[in-house]
Amino acid sequence: MNSLKNKHILSLQDLDLNEIISILDFATNLKNKINTKSSRKLLEGRTLGMVFQKPSTRTRVSFETGMFQLGGHAIFLGTNDLQLSKGESIEDTARTLSLYLDCVMARVYDHRDLEKLSKYSSIPVINGLSDLFHPCQILADLLTIREYKKNFNGLNLAWIGDGFNVCNDLLIGCAKTGINITAACPSGYEPPEWIVKISKREAVKTGSRIIVTNEPISAVQDADIVVTDTFVSLGKDDEKIIRENIFIPKYQVNSELMKYAKDDAIFMHCLPAKRDQEVTSDVIDGKSSVIWKEAENRLHVQKALLCLLIR
Ligand code: CP
Ligand code: NVA
Repeated sequence: MNSLKNKHILSLQDLDLNEIISILDFATNLKNKINTKSSRKLLEGRTLGMVFQKPSTRTRVSFETGMFQLGGHAIFLGTNDLQLSKGESIEDTARTLSLYLDCVMARVYDHRDLEKLSKYSSIPVINGLSDLFHPCQILADLLTIREYKKNFNGLNLAWIGDGFNVCNDLLIGCAKTGINITAACPSGYEPPEWIVKISKREAVKTGSRIIVTNEPISAVQDADIVVTDTFVSLGKDDEKIIRENIFIPKYQVNSELMKYAKDDAIFMHCLPAKRDQEVTSDVIDGKSSVIWKEAENRLHVQKALLCLLIR
């Protein structure tokens, strides 16, 4: 098994294809033996610190539960609980946490905070969502896709909506695994050019096709997988009205749009979802939706990731 010892996982860029597959294989293995005697000892004596600048349901609960199931311990560190809130530097926080913990997972607004945290940490740092990336989500998405579609190569994935953190890592994840991805985003809300460039560079190795467009119908045409995310991400509340006006009329995933996808296409969403905004209730709660498997898989991939990083 590939070990990831002492790596920081800030985006899918930090993992090569072999490492991604190792995480997914290990996750599948753990999933089949949740809470067996042997898995309850895998991280015995290890502690994970979980720094949260923003709210979370899935990330917090799945990391904390995952550590517990592996025999380890997790400490929730809201930023208001840390001296960070009183002006202690990220550098000194990183140095201090490294003295006590085995790993830090952090959810931050500004990705540069994570880069700083990882630079001054002597223990692995995992991105639990920043304004640029969400690697744990994409690992869970890839596991879910593999479970439903058996392999990656040549699948067509349509991303509909905001070219933001989840989309960014999905572009890289698809490029690395050979999935063709078309991201349909409104003008001005496309993923950053440098991330598209990185993805295209990765795609050369796997033959995957990376397209960014403003046209949702062409993106969904013949898709095996249709994915969206909230139109108003954490930290974007002041843009709520303008975003809803731009996104909902053209970029909502509804049954009309899903008709262009393949008959056996699956629908995915990282959650939390706003029903009847980015996706209609009939789609997210319909037969093509795999959102609950996707959410469950956060637990399994993160347990695998933690084992490979700190065991
Ligand atoms: N998908 C995801 O990261 O959910 P939370 O914001 O609830 O952690
Ligand atoms: N794009 C969303 C993802 C939430 C998991 C956000 O940043 O709020």
